[in-house]
Amino acid sequence: MEKIHLDYSHLLKDVSEEEIFAKQGEVDTCHSLLHKKSGAGNDYLGWLDLPSCMNGREIQEIESAAQSLREKVDVFIVIGIGGSYLGAKGVIDALSPAFSNSLPKSKTGVPHIIFAGHHLDSTYHYDLMDYLKGKSFAINVISKSGTTTEPALAFRMFKTLLEENVGKEKAKRLIFATTDRSKGALRNLSDLEGYQSFVIPGDVGGRFSVLTPVGLFPMAVAGIDLGQMIQGAVEGQKLYEERDLKKNPAYFYAAARNLLYQKGKKIEVLVNYIPALQYMGEWWKQLYGESEGKDKRGIFPATCNFTTDLHSMGQWIQDGERTIFETIIHIEKSRHTIQIEKDSTNLDKLNFLAGKDIGDVNRQAMKGTALAHLEGGVPSMTLKVPELNAYYLGQLIYFFEKACGMSAYLLGVNPFDQPGVEAYKKNMFALIGKPGFEEERKTLLKSLSTMGDDKII
Ligand code: PA5
Repeated sequence: MEKIHLDYSHLLKDVSEEEIFAKQGEVDTCHSLLHKKSGAGNDYLGWLDLPSCMNGREIQEIESAAQSLREKVDVFIVIGIGGSYLGAKGVIDALSPAFSNSLPKSKTGVPHIIFAGHHLDSTYHYDLMDYLKGKSFAINVISKSGTTTEPALAFRMFKTLLEENVGKEKAKRLIFATTDRSKGALRNLSDLEGYQSFVIPGDVGGRFSVLTPVGLFPMAVAGIDLGQMIQGAVEGQKLYEERDLKKNPAYFYAAARNLLYQKGKKIEVLVNYIPALQYMGEWWKQLYGESEGKDKRGIFPATCNFTTDLHSMGQWIQDGERTIFETIIHIEKSRHTIQIEKDSTNLDKLNFLAGKDIGDVNRQAMKGTALAHLEGGVPSMTLKVPELNAYYLGQLIYFFEKACGMSAYLLGVNPFDQPGVEAYKKNMFALIGKPGFEEERKTLLKSLSTMGDDKII
């Protein structure tokens, strides 16, 4: 098997190799914080050796539940938010045929996989209920805390619908809970109702949980080869355990982005050239945004899908404020090729491309764009991924997780907490009248009333 490589040639106008390698001392310190589990948030380092410590029996349980669901139901609803859905959605979108949710199960062999409970839009959930009419479905509700409002509300709706459709007893066999081993409302409900459940290890935080049943169960239902994915992650675990920056691309990436940040590059754009990777980008955005954006610090993680977004964001990237850098995910070998045909009229003047694969055009677009952006003052790094398959995605996931832990420690923040997320929850709870938030409600209503209605135009 090949491995993922990091090409940093388009970085050297902005940071030199000497500057990057001079970070070795800091990297050594942070490596020890991670591996000796002595740094901030050290209760949440379970993801570090998760790939090599997978529980074979649990994987079998996941596979066999998934297999039976593939036979039994038309639709599989995955309910979760943040780290409890993004990884699964990212991997499933990346590895499934683009239109698998529009094809009949007889063709794909897997149920339609639909995500819910990752927002509070009533129309989306109404439409989903409508879509489910006449279809058989199962639910996987995922919440580590077991108390998150968005998935809890969605679960209420779809659980009720399922019970109405098939009766309470049968519904119990079509509901799967992924949650903490012993605590939280979802654990209690799951034990009470007797749902089959999967455990999220206590020492693995939400955004680092894609290689636990949080991600693995939905992936298995989607027919993704878990063995390959885990093997890729195990390889990543070995590769990125290396201290030496010259040999460890994950640490190199972390050190380089730390230097870029110090030099005023405050925004990182994760770029892909394949629409199927859009949600891997969303997963990455959460991983880095929630892990690093604290104490008034942190690179702002953004994503772009090229060449699509070159026609919307390309102008800003080429010519806007020079505070950005790019990390490009380059999939070296496409799953499919399409040869461009010769056209008898050649009115579009594209016959010079006849016989070429459209993927070649994509690759040249990528090279040309990276050079143009470099010229315009946007340095980049490129992650060269040999192929888009479960093995390399497993390795890529581990690459980003390891680099994220290193990067946040280099920045001097705790990668594993998210105190800022509580602020919106507190206000939302107060405004919806949740018991226990009466004081906050009074304060909020007062400040809302003093803001006045006269500030509307
Ligand atoms: O990374 C995190 O911890 C968060 O993004 C959580 O994954 C998210 O808030 C969902 O939490 P829970 O799984 O407890 O419902």
